[in-house]
Amino acid sequence: MTTEETFQRPPAEIRYADELTRLGEDDRGGRPPGWALSLEAARAFIVGDERRGIRRKFVGDPSLIDRALVSLATSRGLLLVGEPGTAKSLLSELIAAAVSGTSTLTIQGGAATTDDQIKYSWNYALLVSEGPSPRSLVPAPLLKGMAEGKIVRFEEITRCPLEVQDSLLSPLSERVLAIPELNGADGMVFARQGFNVIATANTRDRGVNDMSAALKRRFNFETVFPIADFATELDLVEAEARALLEASGVTVPPRRDVLEVLVATFRELRAGTNADGGPADRLSTVMSTAETVSVAHAVGLRGWFLRGEPGTAADIVACLAGTAAKDNADDLARLRRYLEQQVPRRRGDQWRALHDARHLLPG
Ligand SMILES: Nc1ncnc2c1ncn2[C@@H]1O[C@H](COP(=O)(O)OP(=O)(O)O)[C@@H](O)[C@H]1O
Ligand SMILES: [Mg+2]
Repeated sequence: MTTEETFQRPPAEIRYADELTRLGEDDRGGRPPGWALSLEAARAFIVGDERRGIRRKFVGDPSLIDRALVSLATSRGLLLVGEPGTAKSLLSELIAAAVSGTSTLTIQGGAATTDDQIKYSWNYALLVSEGPSPRSLVPAPLLKGMAEGKIVRFEEITRCPLEVQDSLLSPLSERVLAIPELNGADGMVFARQGFNVIATANTRDRGVNDMSAALKRRFNFETVFPIADFATELDLVEAEARALLEASGVTVPPRRDVLEVLVATFRELRAGTNADGGPADRLSTVMSTAETVSVAHAVGLRGWFLRGEPGTAADIVACLAGTAAKDNADDLARLRRYLEQQVPRRRGDQWRALHDARHLLPG
């Protein structure tokens, strides 16, 4: 059994190991010091290159990728900002895999994130028996990334307490991390070439406004936008849903006409506009592309495991209550209004089926 069959979601460097190897072998471009690939090859890995058989993994403006990669080759970190579900985490994973060959030096930011989880902690048994020493030191992702010259990912950095965020200041500006408990040369870890930080932040959280001015200055900001074009989003949702369903043991692909209705519904409820561009209800729940993909997956699972066929528009309604309305009664009412008032104005069998299934919403 290969790793791909064993793990639910292997990191990008394992999922796309063959692509990375190939890109590395053919890579004639100059590489920034410490990088596994040139900028050109890293970009191809992320946005795809049909000619070389490299899959497109991130859909969006290739110039965003260029700017992001250039930032990382400078002495500033990269901060990806945007709405939830716009593939900020995916992008940081892909960039880290391309630039460093590993995307797993990752810090997950949260209210309870501590310095230990970012820099280092101690093996207490060894600490007690022999005192602080390089042996009793347990490096966390930041220290490892600095020592090995790799990209460190800091997810949802703005969820961390400010003083914890600021522990990035001297690693980013002086490129050194002090370990005061250790003496001499061991007490200073200097970053090797290739080290840098990619952080992500959601605009729905406390936000980047609260970040200290000092830390903001150490990052280049890049905004990741939701996919603007309907057909592009539909293609992405179809490709992702197909792959997820296959991995879940579903042998029929999702129906394109069902996905069309699903993507249109999510886009309208996300934007608060109807098919004619007029005003309609906007849900307060996040209706991102990432959510659309996960509903498309669930719809396919329902169809297959409940009835042995592809998912239908009725399956969409059955899945919507749990994803789009969650525990929010107002959103449930908005969703019902959408199904009752907007959906009947659309033409097509799947729209009719969506309307007919409105009674599947709870309440
Ligand atoms: N522009 C995009 N390119 C590729 N996948 C996208 C894009 N936007 C959304 N997705 C979907 O969303 C998933 C990633 O979401 P994630 O990285 O967790 O978002 P975020 O970190 O912004 O909340 C992808 O696996 C893919 O299914
Ligand atoms: Mg994320």
